[in-house]
Amino acid sequence: MRRSNNISFSYSEFEKAEELDPEDHELLITAQKAALNAYAPYSQFRVGAAVRLQSGKIIIGTNVENAAFPSGICAERNALSTASANHPGDVPAVIAIAAFTGEGLTDDPVSPCGNCRQVIAEEEYRNSKTIRIILGGSKKIRIIEKGEDLLPLQFNRDNLKITPR
Ligand code: THU
Repeated sequence: MRRSNNISFSYSEFEKAEELDPEDHELLITAQKAALNAYAPYSQFRVGAAVRLQSGKIIIGTNVENAAFPSGICAERNALSTASANHPGDVPAVIAIAAFTGEGLTDDPVSPCGNCRQVIAEEEYRNSKTIRIILGGSKKIRIIEKGEDLLPLQFNRDNLKITPR
């Protein structure tokens, strides 16, 4: 018997960063500033990510490219890995992302790539805590309530049927 299913999710959009809650606004500005530290000589696409941990601490990351292209890393994974390594137990609550081309901050919000969505999903799973995602462009800001919304039907440890230690 064939069954039809549907997955949908709600998200918010704003026109200006100033419309955000002060904490979200601060996080987005921090992501924008972080992008200045990006190492992106190949794409010229400078991405900054700022993660707010449950304690309130903010951890930043940028994309760091490499002549061997797949060896580069995205800003989101850089920030989340830095947080995991330096602040174990202080779990990520929110991540903000902003990107610049040669013309400045992108008009539209930039969404995390598939690899980063998978890594965000793992963080949510390991901490039993969802992560809010703030995507900031100059003309639009998008807020997604949880990473799992961006990765429906995800592959995760449930599929492996093993208990991580
Ligand atoms: N990139 C990120 O850092 N985050 C994203 O969300 C999208 C893409 C990086 C990877 C690469 O260094 C450059 O942007 C162009 O894809």
